[in-house]
Amino acid sequence: MKKVRKAVFPVAGLGTRFLPATKTIPKEMLTVVDRPVIQYVMDEARDAGIEHFIFVTGRNKTVIEDYFDVQFELYNTLAERGKNDQLDLLRETQPKPGQTSFTRQQVPLGLGHAVWCARELVGDEPFALLLPDMIMQSENGCLKDMVELYQHTGSNIVAVQECDPEETHKYGVVGRGDEAHSGFEITGMVEKPPHGTAPSNLYINGRYILQPEIFPLLEAQERGAGGEIQLTDAMLKLMTDQAFYGFHYRGRTFDCGSREGFVEANVAFALWRPDIYPNIVKVIEDLLESTKPMERRSKPR
Ligand code: UTP
Repeated sequence: MKKVRKAVFPVAGLGTRFLPATKTIPKEMLTVVDRPVIQYVMDEARDAGIEHFIFVTGRNKTVIEDYFDVQFELYNTLAERGKNDQLDLLRETQPKPGQTSFTRQQVPLGLGHAVWCARELVGDEPFALLLPDMIMQSENGCLKDMVELYQHTGSNIVAVQECDPEETHKYGVVGRGDEAHSGFEITGMVEKPPHGTAPSNLYINGRYILQPEIFPLLEAQERGAGGEIQLTDAMLKLMTDQAFYGFHYRGRTFDCGSREGFVEANVAFALWRPDIYPNIVKVIEDLLESTKPMERRSKPR
């Protein structure tokens, strides 16, 4: 069985839900506490043993490439000033030379198309796919546990989580079959099922391990829901030839592509940080106490 060495991060979306910020800042560079969203996802991949990081970018996203580069002047200034803690932090968060690749999607035709754009960089081997606007919080990373399941089952793995059965129409949802090691066999998949038709309440949370046979299927893929080339449609086709296993992730997932999810992630990660936890608890308590409903603005500004 081939090892999962490479991870793909599609970062070419327009991020319209975060306008006006995303006019100039990619949503993946918005910060949760003190580091950009993309750093959390990169760290999760690295902890899972990923050795090569492939970014599918678009216009206005060059800052992501700069972020993962070495900033010599900053390093030298920090060294001269004896700021060793900050230097260590930069080194820890930095990929090693040659570990990153960047390609452009050119036109944002959908997630499936963005993944297809990485085909030459992935080559003929299994790869992890991480949607960078979904960030996870748990002791063990979601992808790390998926890689462990992959070592037992091979094939394709999709991470899922439970949602309110009333909300299934917002997500890609899977059908649950027999247990298999720490996961289960996936019996079907549907993108945004109409009310009352979902095969379960297990939604796909943005982490995948896929076989390279997905690429020719994506190439032939017609536009699906929302006029976009959908990854779920290609996965469904691949399911006729290859097994798909579900990994039921039990940690927290924050959808940083939505405003509520992004604010929630900031609060949750601040509460997780021992250095700022006590102050943050106090700040939240004081704000809840002092913000009376009538003070809340009627319009966002
Ligand atoms: P989303 O639909 O959440 O991203 O795609 P978006 O289009 O940027 O967001 P909104 O709805 O306009 O606010 C999920 C992931 O797939 C990537 C996005 O960057 C995001 O990480 N994506 C989506 C692409 O790389 N290319 C696409 O054509 C579409």
